[in-house]
Order: sequence, then structure tokens, then C-alpha cells
Amino acid sequence: MAAKATGSTGWARALSQVVAKDRRVRDSAYAAHRWWARRPPALLRALLLATALPSGVSEEEFWERYASEEPHLLGKTVYDPFMGGGSTLVEAQRLGASVMGSDVDPMSVRIVKAELAPVDGKKLRHYGKLLLDHLREELSWLFPSGPEAAPLHYFSIAEVQCPACTETGALYRSLVLVRDPINADDPTAVRWVARDDESLGYDIEDSNFSPKRRIEVKASAEKIVRFFLSPNELEVARRLGDDYEVHFWGGVSVKASIKEEYERLVRDGYPLIFRGLDALLRSGRLNAVPTQYLVTESDDRNPAV
Ligand SMILES: C[S@@+](CC[C@H](N)C(=O)[O-])C[C@H]1O[C@@H](n2cnc3c(N)ncnc32)[C@H](O)[C@@H]1O
Repeated sequence: MAAKATGSTGWARALSQVVAKDRRVRDSAYAAHRWWARRPPALLRALLLATALPSGVSEEEFWERYASEEPHLLGKTVYDPFMGGGSTLVEAQRLGASVMGSDVDPMSVRIVKAELAPVDGKKLRHYGKLLLDHLREELSWLFPSGPEAAPLHYFSIAEVQCPACTETGALYRSLVLVRDPINADDPTAVRWVARDDESLGYDIEDSNFSPKRRIEVKASAEKIVRFFLSPNELEVARRLGDDYEVHFWGGVSVKASIKEEYERLVRDGYPLIFRGLDALLRSGRLNAVPTQYLVTESDDRNPAV
């Protein structure tokens, strides 16, 4: 980093204060879509700026430039191969750089494209309102309304077409259906506790029960009970014993209206609850088979056919 922290740790302390304040600011570029693991944009702006400034810049000058709207990265290109929620690229673009990025997660690519695209404020407000009206109509019955609570986020799962087989399906394999907080004894006791990875399913921890319940939600288009368990989930299931439950929703259709679909699934007896997953596996009531393949090239390059 080229900017010099003169004297003490003053520069770092000032930066952490700016980052803390910035976390409370609503930044419309990042409101395009929720990204849970977002790195603090104010921190990334500081790091990008520091790399662009000559060495020996005083703290005072650094903060002056930080606050200015000058494109300090003009003529530079920033590439983020693991761009995630895109904070590095958005901040680099704001500082005048040309930006490029990639990510293994298609959701990240969609989000970052939207964040980097020039915005027509009028159009955005118009379509934002249409989307919100639609989501309220479809989903508001699931959430409490009134002065004591209001929904902060609505989620949808994009449908994509497989480029290999042309089948369409939900972008993510697990649909998370949350219990109705109105009927929970203490809704604040229900919280998300773990993620399989950056963007896939969540575990739910419910402290309304003693001992606490850890709930893994699995869903499938098929009615037959079949779901994937990551090595991490199996490890947690073993560690927590009876406190670990799998809630399985079968026969799920992503095409049906959410309200009707939810009511139908509940009428059909879902979720099926498997309490103490590890014991169920050991007793043979549930079976787990390895689904990972190790593919290697044969030593014999000309095998007999
Ligand atoms: C911590 S986030 C990156 C944060 C981002 N650089 C920023 O400035 O906010 C890590 C990202 O790396 C992506 N990722 C992990 N392995 C990858 C791979 N092999 N190829 C491309 N992206 C990958 C993940 O999908 C995730 O979005």
C-alpha cells in the first residue's frame, strides 16, 4: 500500500471509523440485490485509492482525496476474478477505473452486472415499484404486518436453462421455507445460523425448544425422500445428535403460485421431519450413499472395447 500511516495507528483507526459509519448508509448501488458476504465498500475504496497514490502521501492528503470525487484510478484497469457481491469493482469504477470481473456463482454475475450498469433513475423507480407490488401481492401473507414488524427483504429464485440438456430448473437446489413467525412462541429465538457456502441454503436454529433445534430444510420436485447432504451437514448432524432435524418438502413445483404451493404442500403433509438424522442413518431407516465420483484417466490408453 502506498499511502503512509504516519506516526501511530491513526490512519487505520480513522479508516475503521469511516467503515463503521459507512455500514449504516444505504447505498443504492448495493441495494440492487442482497449479498450476505459483502465486504465493506468504504474499506475497499480506501485500499484501491492507497494503491493508486504515490508513496509518502500524508494522512491528511489521503483523506482529502478519499472524500473528493476525482477519478483517481482513471486509466487503470481493475480485475477481480472472485468478484462476489462486486464491492471492489463498484468502488474501482467510482474511482474512474475500467473494471472486469468473474465468479463461479451465476448469481454474483447477475448482481454485479446490475450494480455496474448505468442507471436510469426514472425507469428503476418504475420497475422497482412494479416488482415490489408483485412481491407484496404474492408474499405479504407470509409475514406479519403492522407497526411492530415489516419485511425487509423479499427473495425469488431465478429459473435457468441448462446449456447441456436444455432442461429448465431453479438456479439453486434448495428452497428455504421459513416457519411462520406469528405462530412462534418467540420469533426472535429463530435465526439462521450457518450457510453451506456463499449463497446456498441456511440452517435454522430454533431456541424456542430445549435443547435448541437445528433444522436443515431440504426440498425436491420428487415425492420420494431423496436429498443431498454436504460433508459439513453430515458432520453437524453427527455432532448434534437428536437436536439436528431435516425437514423435507417433496413434490415442490417452482411454477405454482407461492401461496397455493405452500398450502398444498402443508395439506399433503409436508414437511416430513427427520429428527436425529445421525441415529436414523445408523438404524438404517434412512440410507446415505456417497455421490461423489473420482474420475481419472486410465493407465491403459487403448483399452479393449
Ligand atoms: C469473498 S467473495 C469475493 C469478494 C469480492 N472480491 C469483493 O470485493 O467483494 C468470494 C467469491 O469467490 C467466488 N469463487 C469461489 N471459488 C471460485 C472459483 N474457483 N472461480 C471463480 N469464483 C470463485 C465465490 O462464488 C464468491 O462469490
